[in-house]
Amino acid sequence: MKLVNTVEELHAEIQRLNPDKTVGLVPTMGALHQGHISLVKQAVSENPIVVVSIFVNPTQFNDPNDLEHYPRTLENDLKLLEPTGCSIVFAPNAKEVYPEPDKRKFNFGILEQVMEGQHRPGHFNGVAQVVSRLFELIKPAKAYFGLKDFQQLAIVKNMVKQLQLPVEIVPCAIIREESGLAMSSRNELLTDEQRKNAAVISETLFKAKELKGQKSVKEITDWVTETINKNPFLDVEYFEIVDDEQLQPVNNWNENSTYFGCVAAFCGKIRLIDNIVF
Ligand code: PAJ
Repeated sequence: MKLVNTVEELHAEIQRLNPDKTVGLVPTMGALHQGHISLVKQAVSENPIVVVSIFVNPTQFNDPNDLEHYPRTLENDLKLLEPTGCSIVFAPNAKEVYPEPDKRKFNFGILEQVMEGQHRPGHFNGVAQVVSRLFELIKPAKAYFGLKDFQQLAIVKNMVKQLQLPVEIVPCAIIREESGLAMSSRNELLTDEQRKNAAVISETLFKAKELKGQKSVKEITDWVTETINKNPFLDVEYFEIVDDEQLQPVNNWNENSTYFGCVAAFCGKIRLIDNIVF
């Protein structure tokens, strides 16, 4: 495993490993945990060369405070990556990724008008900028994204379609802590007490899934919001039950369709997201 910081070194290393071999890419912002590592392991099992990028992308942060406090733990990240068998860790600075400011404006239509798109204006434009830039630099055949960021996955798939890029987007399952809390780099910013209480988010989603046969979409939506909000550490920003393609809120269950229940909740100042398939 080789750590590279520049595009020049990155290309030299891919060249050295053999440019004809297909590359798998796992884009990350670092502060790695077992959720990220599961993506890397899957990538390693499916590609002869795997690049893991570690880059805290400034263009996707709509809150400067969030960007400033985002955890940066490169040394520990490398320790976690070493045993996975990944080939290259690409940890560039902003000038390498954006030699010129990226002024591109993507249009994702209704896909970006709900949930994360609605509450974090500009966020998905920044995600599309950095992911398309990484695709351009690395030219992966496959790229791996977690279902934890369900809307991000839909946005990336849509971007690939719009730009007609020859890359397969591989969705990967959500990895959880023992308590059920979805693993996240942001969990590290929680106190022990907050972290314990944050497990109520996933607990409530799991129970909601069991209630599906007995309750309407609205009843479940209200119940999830109230149950999480009852916990004094938690404050729901949104909970929506949406279809799995356009990610639009639905009013009724349809037997043959798949739905996702998506939640964002604050635990103190830390914003956590999670989702469950219904
Ligand atoms: P980051 O939050 O570091 O996540 C990198 C990848 O790991 C994403 O695809 C995310 O969905 C996945 N992931 C995070 N937690 C996970 C979990 N508990 N289980 C499974 N997968 C998980 O998402 C980003 O970075 C950025 O927006 C990025 C795509 C790198 C663009 O900057």
